[in-house]
This record gives sequence, structure tokens and C-alpha cells, in this order.
Amino acid sequence: MTDKSEQDRVLIFDTTLRDGEQSPGATMTHAEKLEIAGLLDEMGVDIIEAGFPIASEGDFAAVTEIAKQTRNATICGLARAQIGDIDRCWEAVKHAKAPRIHTFIGTSPLHRAIPNLDMDQMAERIEQTVTHARNLCDNVQWSPMDATRTEEDYLCRVVEIAIKCGATTINIPDTVGYTAPRESAELIAMLINRVPGADEITFATHCHNDLGMATANSLAAVEAGARQIECTINGLGERAGNTALEEVVMALKVRNDIMPFQTGIDATKIMNISRRVAAVSGFPVQFNKAIVGKNAFAHESGIHQDGMLKNAETFEIMRPEDVGLSETNLVMGKHSGRAALRSKLEDLGFELGDNQLKDVFVRFKELADRKKEIYDDDLIALMRTSTDPENDRLKLKSLKVVCGTEGPQQADLVMEIDGEEQSTTQTGDGPVDASFNAIKALVPHSARLQLYQVHAVTEGTDAQATVSVRMEEDGRIVTGQSANTDTVVASVLAYIHALNRLLMRREKGGKDKREISYKDVS
Ligand code: KIV
Ligand code: ZN
Repeated sequence: MTDKSEQDRVLIFDTTLRDGEQSPGATMTHAEKLEIAGLLDEMGVDIIEAGFPIASEGDFAAVTEIAKQTRNATICGLARAQIGDIDRCWEAVKHAKAPRIHTFIGTSPLHRAIPNLDMDQMAERIEQTVTHARNLCDNVQWSPMDATRTEEDYLCRVVEIAIKCGATTINIPDTVGYTAPRESAELIAMLINRVPGADEITFATHCHNDLGMATANSLAAVEAGARQIECTINGLGERAGNTALEEVVMALKVRNDIMPFQTGIDATKIMNISRRVAAVSGFPVQFNKAIVGKNAFAHESGIHQDGMLKNAETFEIMRPEDVGLSETNLVMGKHSGRAALRSKLEDLGFELGDNQLKDVFVRFKELADRKKEIYDDDLIALMRTSTDPENDRLKLKSLKVVCGTEGPQQADLVMEIDGEEQSTTQTGDGPVDASFNAIKALVPHSARLQLYQVHAVTEGTDAQATVSVRMEEDGRIVTGQSANTDTVVASVLAYIHALNRLLMRREKGGKDKREISYKDVS
């Protein structure tokens, strides 16, 4: 018999490093994954899904290291319904203080058709693989992928098998973001009522956001009896993403009157981790995103501003500091030293090694020379730029552009390529196009520019521009970011950042994670 506080406790399962990292272009480096795992652990996430160990050597190494380093959270790895996947997953997670194997198979008619298994054959596969996982690890999560489009009777049958074979958590994924809140609740309630043994295990909800209902669906599932929410920071994830961790955590806090459930998350850490995930994944947070968007606590209209000055509660249902947002303040200037910079960056959630700090400090000084006032957002933007220049094969040495009403626009570019200086002059349709043509002339490649985005970090004509680019080559997608008071320089640095990542990916070779088929279970 569980006591009341246990019944009200909702576990937070974060899958930023697995489902989130599957977003095209969101690939993180080994060091970045370790850093994010550390921040997730610090903020009180109960279970970290650290990766998909069979997918690549990189994923295996990251899950292994995260398992070794994490102090509090349970460390989980994903595995298809195959013995080899499960063994590989166990090899990686077994180092954790609290390891978990998460194995899954697509159970809806559409997903059963792909490995060409009939209902009985699939049931047998589930029995074998869950039993195998449970023989290795006493914490096993099983997911019927595309559960929300699986026949109810069959779903009950396979969930019962998984429980009998030892699964301790049953996750019900809305893989394609198809369900709606009432349906999400009814599905969990139906499973709890009908499946023998359902009261012995934890039900989890895993929602995708294709119709913008992921958070509402997750909360509805909790009201119906689910006690684990699967989510990602900033809602990162394939297509429209996943349930956002910050949304469910704050919804449960702010509306505890109607949803009396507790999580173990320290909400004041939300803003820092959100910024860090945006920086390392290359997926900037939309300005009006709930909780973590730049405008989430901004009040523009006169009536709102007036109300806010009289009583903040007139237009705010939570305080910025509840999620760790301190007011954007003037932080530093030209004369600030290295220790002050380190301490300020630590306040913003960035813990840097000495080499990284050295690089950031040089760039901070350059920025301080160009820009009088340096705000928190400027430092965050600075951190988006590559912090590992020593290992970059391509470096910008100098750029001069000719632009204006009389074309053609021209770029004189000098780059260091594998230690050797090379230069070119190219023209284009505008200064950015001319500069990108110049990069392409020095570093020939067939990568296609899929996205080019520019934002101003703060206000004023001396504001820094942050630029994000996304490029694709042979199915591999990489992103690059940079910030500079000169928009063309920021654009060139972002392009070079992406190219450096592409070169690294080419060197590593092997399969891209997304080339591993989830459906291939035969
Ligand atoms: O969305 C999904 O179904 C998944 C599974 C692998 C759990 O991510
Ligand atoms: Zn998913």
C-alpha cells in the first residue's frame, strides 16, 4: 500500500538526450551530452534517458559515461525489441547506480506491418525481449510504440504480457501526436481498469506535439493515473517535438489546486538548462514559448505595464524568479576580469573548463570593445559560438565585404584550413551570399543550406546578431550558431561552425543515428 505522498508523486523522465537529440540537426557532442545530463541530474529529474546505445558508438559511449557520472537520477537507455539491442543497452547503463532498460516495439496495425509480424508473433517477441531485459536489469520499461493507434484489446493483451514478464514501467506513447486530452486520460484509465497486474507497475505518458496538445495530453494522463511524464527541455524532439519539461513542471506547480501532484524538480534551474539546450542543440527557443521564451515574462502593452507596476499578479501567474530568470541586467564591461566573467557565466548556468574560459574571455573582450553595454543575453549568445576552437579545422581569419545599392556585392575572405591560410574574393546576391560563396570556393562541399536565421540579441543598433544555420549532406544534418555585432561576420562564423561539425561527422563515419530504423525489428 503506497502512502498519499507517493500516490501524488509524478516522476519526470527526461528524454532530451534521446528523443530530443533525434530532431534533425540537434546532434550534440559527447561533452555537451555529459554537461546536459549533469544539469538534468542537478535539477532533480528522476530518470534520464541518455541515448540509444545500439544506434552508434557515440551514443554507446555517451550513455556509458553518463551512467558512470550521474549521482542521483536513474539512467535509462533505449533498445528495440531485439536481444542484441537489449544487451548493448545493458552494457552501457549497467554502470549506473540505478540503471534502467527501455525496450519498445510498434504495436499498431501500421507498425506491425513493417516487420511483418502478426499479433501472435509480436506477442511472442514481446515476451522474449522483456523477459531477457528483466533477466539483466530489475528496472525495465516497456513501450508499445504508437499505442494511441493500437486496437484496445490488443494493447491490453501486450501490456499484460510485458507486466507478466517483469516490466516495472509501462509507457504509453502517442508517437505521432494524434491523441487529445480526454482520449489520453481514457486510455490510461482503461488500461488501469482492464489489465491484470496494472496496479503493480507505473504507467508513463510520452506525448508528441504534432497537434500542439502534448502537454495537455500528458497532464490528462496523469489525472487518470499515469505517474511518469516523459518530456524534453524546450520540447525538443522529432517533428513538432515532445512534451516540454518546463511546461508540465510549472503547470503542476501553478495549478496545484486542480492537479494536486508533486514533482521533484527544482524549477529555479529551468531557465539555465533551457538556454544551454538551445545553445548546444542549435534549436533556438521561439520568443513566445511558454515559460522559457524571451517574451514569456515581457509586458508590452500600456495596460499590462501599468497593471504590472501596481501588482505583478495582475498579469503574471508565476514570477520570473520561480524559473530562475533574473532581470536582464547590465553585467559587465571592458574592464571586467576573467574571474568576474567565470562567476557571471556560472550564474547563467555555464560551467567552463580553463581552456574554454580562455577562448570565451578573448571573445568577450572583443565584444566589449565593440559594444558599450553587455547584458546577460549577450553572454548567452557568446556561448552559442563554438567553444572548442582548438579542434576546429576551419577558422575565419578575416572578412571584408563590399555592399550597398550598387552591385555586385563582394566578399574578400581569408580562412585557415587545416593550419594553412587561404584566401579568395567572390561576389553574390548581397553580402551574405557573397561571403557564403567565398567559403564554398575555399571549402568545396555539397552540403545544402536548409535554414538561415538571424535574430537581434538585445536592442539598439549595436546589438549583437545571432545567426543559426542548418545544413544537410547525404542525409546528415548539422547546425551552426554564432553571434557578432556584425551580422555578416556572425553569418560567416555560423556557416563555418556548421562546416566544422560536418567535417567531424564525416571523419567519424559510420551510420547516422537516424539511419537506424526503429521499425526494423526482424
Ligand atoms: O515516440 C515514441 O513512440 C518513442 C518510443 C521509442 C518510446 O519515442
Ligand atoms: Zn517519442
